[in-house]
Amino acid sequence: MKTGILGLSRRYLAFRRLCKPRHGFGIHSPFVFELYTQAIDSDAKEPAFLPIERYRQSLKRCAQRIDLVGADGCSQATSEVRKIARKAAIPPHLGRLLFRLCRYMQPQSIVELGTSLGISTLYMAVATPDVPLHTIEVNADVQQIAQNQFDTMGCGNVYTHCGTFAEHLPSLLQHLPSVGLAFVDGHHQGEAMLRYVEAMLPHITPSSMLVLDDIRWSDDMEAAWHVLCADLRVSLSIDLFRCGILLFRQGVAKQHFNLRFGPY
Ligand SMILES: C[S@@+](CC[C@H](N)C(=O)[O-])C[C@H]1O[C@@H](n2cnc3c(N)ncnc32)[C@H](O)[C@@H]1O
Repeated sequence: MKTGILGLSRRYLAFRRLCKPRHGFGIHSPFVFELYTQAIDSDAKEPAFLPIERYRQSLKRCAQRIDLVGADGCSQATSEVRKIARKAAIPPHLGRLLFRLCRYMQPQSIVELGTSLGISTLYMAVATPDVPLHTIEVNADVQQIAQNQFDTMGCGNVYTHCGTFAEHLPSLLQHLPSVGLAFVDGHHQGEAMLRYVEAMLPHITPSSMLVLDDIRWSDDMEAAWHVLCADLRVSLSIDLFRCGILLFRQGVAKQHFNLRFGPY
């Protein structure tokens, strides 16, 4: 069940108690200090963000009705595009974070679980236009709208896969040399998130990064996040409250960081 406002406030206080101050004070890992100060805590605006935010505004005015599809691929109800754009798309500050993480990490490949209308995809695609970005979405209608925008913006590095993560992720992973950066933003159930991360782990390298959105969506999502932080295959975990980052660097002591980012 989705965490209510009271539960979220309690969790936020617990998160803040363990947070390092802003600006990187108290981060003793040189790698995490640099990642934080250069890619997480900085918020430079780029001209590339403008067309993405204009697209978001146009979606927020779009009254077209489309079918909603569940994680199993079955139709559930209908909704207006403008409601999906308001509820499902990541907010601008998180898009800018993904952009900076892609620029900073320079991954060889990007995998996204949950395209929806393509806002997060666009932020990552324009950050590294030469890097193939594979994005999976079960809802063909939203993905078609996203695809139109990828075409309009000339994002030739985006490869869309329509179907469930369970259907597409295994074969996609077989065809990729490795997972450089992955953004997991769909099927918000703890056990499902663990399954998708577990599927990706054999394909990560010491320079890979996994970004998991909505880790405080529900009790089970938060519990799954803590399971991943404790996993010995993960060397560095960074909790940004709304989302979490997993890193796999070798030769470093296993460490966890609660770091302030955006409104948190
Ligand atoms: C929160 S939205 C993604 C938002 C998008 N990342 C953005 O910021 O613009 C999650 C998407 O994942 C899709 N989804 C959920 N479970 C899925 C599954 N098991 N397989 C494929 N797609 C799924 C949903 O249809 C929905 O469009």
